[in-house]
Amino acid sequence: MIQRFGGRVALVTGGAAGIGRAVVDRMVAEGATVVVWDINEERLASCRQLHAAHVLTQRVDVTDAGNIDRALSEAMGQFGRLDIVVNGAGLIGPNGPFWETTPEEWERTLRIDLTSVFLVSRAARPHLVANGWGRIINIASVTANEGPKNLAVYATSKAGVVGLTKSMAKDLAGTGVLVNAIAPALIATELLGQLTKEYYEAALSRIPLGRAGTLDEAAALITWLCSEECSFSTGAVYDLSGGRGV
Ligand SMILES: NC(=O)c1ccc[n+]([C@@H]2O[C@H](COP(=O)([O-])OP(=O)(O)OC[C@H]3O[C@@H](n4cnc5c(N)ncnc54)[C@H](O)[C@@H]3O)[C@@H](O)[C@H]2O)c1
Repeated sequence: MIQRFGGRVALVTGGAAGIGRAVVDRMVAEGATVVVWDINEERLASCRQLHAAHVLTQRVDVTDAGNIDRALSEAMGQFGRLDIVVNGAGLIGPNGPFWETTPEEWERTLRIDLTSVFLVSRAARPHLVANGWGRIINIASVTANEGPKNLAVYATSKAGVVGLTKSMAKDLAGTGVLVNAIAPALIATELLGQLTKEYYEAALSRIPLGRAGTLDEAAALITWLCSEECSFSTGAVYDLSGGRGV
């Protein structure tokens, strides 16, 4: 396998499972050292077992600014640099009409799916800028444009991720740090278990390619965006929806 990430240090949030984990596996295979943040300790342990010295796993809640700062300073103490951030942590949140969502559920979902991207990117920025090179990748969703029925908080958070990606990209233009997002439809992860069966089937039926995307397909796009090969895109949102989002 080509070694696009030799000498690079990447931080992947939500890296213990799903899309984040697929990115961790691919980056390690291509020479990166990866700092993996998640709240799922069991899965962090299995990631550590597989990748040993190529990863630093840390139990970090990405909604907690203090937790982020402490973990990042430990990682910087260990590796001395940070080149890439993939903001992969997230959840679906409430399914149902918006009026059934409590204010507490609304705040919590926005904090995990949107505010975390701001908090982690804000903390990582000085380290990326110090290199004169960096990549930040955020995971939006086709729901950002669609605003599907029964997913108001999720769609709102993902629309926020799109806006945040565009603004961060422009704020960082000229520093060598590029900020891009992907907008997947259905990628086969456990997250899909948080959707109702009706929503899942309706969403699948609207994908022209007629299937869910794979973890390899998600990791391929994200790692390309993290690589030196991606050099003239910033603030972009890359569709990964089998045609549903275009
Ligand atoms: N799978 C899809 O079809 C799909 C489609 C569009 C967008 N996305 C987005 O992709 C991202 C990853 O989704 P996935 O499908 O891999 O989900 P997943 O549930 O498989 O993995 C998400 C990971 O995030 C972690 N996490 C959740 N809350 C956290 C917190 N507060 N702090 C740290 N870690 C936390 C979980 O423990 C889990 O390991 C999410 O932002 C999701 O909204 C996924």
